Amino acid sequence: MDHAKRQGIAYAVFVSMLSVACATPGGVAGGAAPSGDVALTPPPDEQPVGLVLAAQISTGPGGQPVPRLAPPGDLYRDALADAYKAFKTLEEGKNADYIPALAKVDSKLYGLVLVTVQGAVYEIGSARHEFSIQSVSKPFTVARVIETAGADAVNQRIGVNATGQKFNSILAIDLLKNIPSSKEHIIPAGNPLVNAGAIATVDMLAAAPGLDKWATLLANLEAFAGRALVVNEEVYRSETETNTHNQAIVQLLKDYEVIKGDPMQALDIYTRACSVSVSARDLAVMGATLANGGRNPLTGAQVIAPATASRVLAVLATAGLYETTGEWLYKVGVPAKSGVGGGIVAVVPGKFAIGTFSPPLDPAGNSVRSQRAIEAIVQKLNGNVFASRPASPARRPTGAAAPASAPVPAVARGN
Ligand code: DON
Repeated sequence: MDHAKRQGIAYAVFVSMLSVACATPGGVAGGAAPSGDVALTPPPDEQPVGLVLAAQISTGPGGQPVPRLAPPGDLYRDALADAYKAFKTLEEGKNADYIPALAKVDSKLYGLVLVTVQGAVYEIGSARHEFSIQSVSKPFTVARVIETAGADAVNQRIGVNATGQKFNSILAIDLLKNIPSSKEHIIPAGNPLVNAGAIATVDMLAAAPGLDKWATLLANLEAFAGRALVVNEEVYRSETETNTHNQAIVQLLKDYEVIKGDPMQALDIYTRACSVSVSARDLAVMGATLANGGRNPLTGAQVIAPATASRVLAVLATAGLYETTGEWLYKVGVPAKSGVGGGIVAVVPGKFAIGTFSPPLDPAGNSVRSQRAIEAIVQKLNGNVFASRPASPARRPTGAAAPASAPVPAVARGN
């Protein structure tokens, strides 16, 4: 049996183990779908530049989904198209080159996808071009570990606080060792999104019945993406040949008893996970699953519990863009995760997720164009999760004093 077939079976076994709450034909998620008219887009390789394909559609004869172009005036379409155009020519940042295979990727590739919790898919540019998922895999793997080992175990062994350091910081590990914490002599790895925490997460991952650890990890990513995925072998080899820094991290974590099993095996599985090929569209579907209480809006599979999705989103908000996460949250206001392959996933809980691809990175390892495009889309769609506005008079409890008469301090008026 070839590898792809074997993996397809692992995926099927894994998904059948999840509680499939609603797998409607045509891929419509139950409950939240507005009028039963949402489906998958067809798979053209690359969308012509400037085209926004939507998949919010009617069903044709025989129940087949019929995709259509979203008309101008559709809010999601316009937000995506405007952001695409606005940053298409932006030339800031540089491909990651510490993994040699990533330096070779065309820096001009640029794709944006938005998937709503109802399962509508909007895509533009290189939306289906595949690249290595890298650190964007991390939140999805820790989601599985939270499901199986529990949220407390992850907090204890991995930690969920920002390190404020680079994603591959060794200093952060040693700093944590010296902070007296409530964790009773357990030294946490940082959080599940930095390399140390992500490799420790792999160490904690339990193999699902009938599968080994790697097959479990991959099948979990596939359940989030709603399709079979493969490893980019060139990227995997390239990273394996050059990951001496991560080797130092795992040996330190073994010494501190954060990693309990074979550190080199955990590192190898982690490196494979980072090398999985995905598209911006996949990232958007994976993010929409987090936005949708853990249920994949295209397949209907309940991949993780809603409470687990909330924990994962909290960690993204804390550390998704590493040492620049605070600034990101301050400016954009949505949980997001980046990868050095150029992908970012951003999640607006209960509404939609955005998946992006553009290889040039800022010094923290976050795609430059992706960040700018997400910021613009979120702003246009009012997606900031911290958005705060005064209650309208109609919503005031009966009998409550009208705030209009209350004096406003001068200092507040000035802002
Ligand atoms: O371990 C590494 O360095 C890479 N496989 C992943 C790092 C990464 O994606 C950081 N994110 N922006």
